[in-house]
Amino acid sequence: MDRLFEFMLPEAKSPTADSTDALFHFINEVSLVLLIGITIALIYFAIKYRRRSEDDETPVITHNNTLEITWSVVPLLICFVIFGWGYTGWLNLKSVPDNAYEIQVNGFKWGWNVKYDNGAQTLNEIHVPEGRPVKIVLQSSDVLHSFFVPDYRVKHDVVPGRYTYVWFEAEEAGESIVFCTEYCGTGHSDMLAKVIVHTEEDFQTWLEKNGGGVSGTPVEQGEQLVQLQGCTTCHSDDGSRLIGPSFKGLWESEETLSDGSTVTVDENYLRESILNPGAKIVESYDNVMTPYEGRISDEEITNIIEYLKTLK
Ligand code: CUA
Repeated sequence: MDRLFEFMLPEAKSPTADSTDALFHFINEVSLVLLIGITIALIYFAIKYRRRSEDDETPVITHNNTLEITWSVVPLLICFVIFGWGYTGWLNLKSVPDNAYEIQVNGFKWGWNVKYDNGAQTLNEIHVPEGRPVKIVLQSSDVLHSFFVPDYRVKHDVVPGRYTYVWFEAEEAGESIVFCTEYCGTGHSDMLAKVIVHTEEDFQTWLEKNGGGVSGTPVEQGEQLVQLQGCTTCHSDDGSRLIGPSFKGLWESEETLSDGSTVTVDENYLRESILNPGAKIVESYDNVMTPYEGRISDEEITNIIEYLKTLK
């Protein structure tokens, strides 16, 4: 029977996935057996007890105790089994092993910002070691998102103003895809990330190489920041039109706003557009950017502006 349902699920890559799959198959198989059984009975009775002549009269049957008890108790038992099984699985998904490696993941419109214990940061890439439990602590900067990794059978809502978490253990080095599964606006379908699984040794090397977060001159830091903060999801650096205006040639340009007025792009305009994007919307674009107020420091803003100045 498992064979029959294989096409429904990707290959499981976490040890906890098997119990989730087993329950999924159980519910599917029970439903299928019931569907077939009820359909056959329905057709059989419809033919057997069809009206044969004008004076064909149905006898009065008030009830049948045996039948009624059977069709109440059997489904009830099935429900108890599903509940007990599901509850155990849920407890396992909520009980993070003590030795789990913790990673902070912040969902925003539209991407995933990832922070590691030594200050390393990535965008839309979650680097993890193989064979070790990993706890992903989830936060949202703006609206409801949902963090879903089909290969590990883990999914959890990402809620603004509240921490949530999932945990998994990647069985082998490789990559798995992360989806946002809560509709969160224009860029929802592009809100993808990858879990990149390294061997323990490679993971330590990767961590050390990327430790400490952004570094270099202000312009270099600015360039890393527009990646990490997800700016490049909506703003190109080559003049092409994405969800927001391109960064190329932006500095000191004249922009027409949605109310018909014009503005020259200087430091204060850029600063306002980062902290409170809705204040001045460039003509023909939508007011969809999440304010960075409280999410970014003055120094980071300055570095980003320094970088934008170089994109002529
Ligand atoms: Cu985030 Cu959909």
